[in-house]
Amino acid sequence: MTLRIAQRAHRIEPFYVMEVAKAAQQLAREVAHSDRPMVFLNIGEPDFTAPPLVQEAAERAMRGGHTQYTQATGLEALREKISGWYRQRFGLEVPASRIVVTAGASAALQLACLALIDAGDEILMPDPSYPCNRHFVSAADGTAVLVPAGAQDRFQLSAAAVQANWKERTRGVLLASPSNPTGTSIDPQELRRIHDVVRARGGVTIVDEIYLGLSYDERFGRSALALDDQVVSINSFSKYFSMTGWRLGWVVAPLELVPVLERLAQNLFICPSTVAQHAAVACFEPESIAEYERRRAQFKARRDWFIPALNDLGLTVPVVPDGAFYAWADCSAWCSALGLPGSWEFAFDAMKRAHVAVTPGRDFGSAETGRFVRFSTASSMEHLQEAVHRLKEMAP
Ligand SMILES: Cc1ncc(COP(=O)(O)O)c(C=O)c1O
Repeated sequence: MTLRIAQRAHRIEPFYVMEVAKAAQQLAREVAHSDRPMVFLNIGEPDFTAPPLVQEAAERAMRGGHTQYTQATGLEALREKISGWYRQRFGLEVPASRIVVTAGASAALQLACLALIDAGDEILMPDPSYPCNRHFVSAADGTAVLVPAGAQDRFQLSAAAVQANWKERTRGVLLASPSNPTGTSIDPQELRRIHDVVRARGGVTIVDEIYLGLSYDERFGRSALALDDQVVSINSFSKYFSMTGWRLGWVVAPLELVPVLERLAQNLFICPSTVAQHAAVACFEPESIAEYERRRAQFKARRDWFIPALNDLGLTVPVVPDGAFYAWADCSAWCSALGLPGSWEFAFDAMKRAHVAVTPGRDFGSAETGRFVRFSTASSMEHLQEAVHRLKEMAP
């Protein structure tokens, strides 16, 4: 008798980029000692680790035996620090009582989806977008409706698109700003219009702000929490705070939603990692913030060098990313010249001929993703320069 797998699990599509990543790892081993070791520009995590104060705080927590479960909503001290960060960095009053600390943005998204989506509900999101976000909706038995979003809309939903695609079962929108894979944010005015459309229909606006800390443009680097206290904002210690593997994030929710998230979190996770939480308190020390700001400046400098270099190569980046560490580049001219069907084949070609690993668009949607590849600039300037040098050599 074969094991019957739940339909829910079947709806979660495979992560195709992992195939590319696996192939890149395999080839990397083969070429490790050649004069052209693999340059990985496919990685979606900072090339930095948690700074010293954070590491020391983790050690202290472990040695001091501060390793029991915490409250499901997280350590009070950490919630207060996060609240203070909104005040200092964004000039926003976000009370600690609205903050629920979670095991990464992933758990925050899962809690938000389970709390807000009923079976059959539809959630609008842009195509392209981070693949797991539509899968969190599926896991809550909802349907993610991907709406094509092009360069003219900064690869984000517009209020007009939300209005046009709103149906009887639509429950809300799930946006990511800045976005993965494009690094582009929603224009704040447009976000306000989107939120108005959503609120007028009794829906919910969920904004994944995991890359908000890594913002390089004052015009866009604002939290959706400025709109009103009904927005659900997802955030994380993974990106700006360089703590991917520590598994820590948070959600800011309307006050009435917090007890619901708490009840779900108590049952599903009990609490996020206690050691990680104690460590994260030290993220907000002036010394740590100064280090994070130096890193943000480095990410910006990489972007400022890399985007024009890609454009010069004919791998055009239609919208300059204002945040995160990605470049969403159109490789269709190269594909035509090289006789490659699309970005999937381009990724393998770049990997094999230039030993440069990139992420093809496929996982991020279906609208234009055959034309686009995602480069990650979470890599040293030397690596970025080497990658551009090698791509130049293989240029058609
Ligand atoms: C847009 C977006 N949301 C959420 C996540 C999940 O992050 P984490 O669970 O590490 O906080 C990622 C990770 O790359 C992401 O790019």
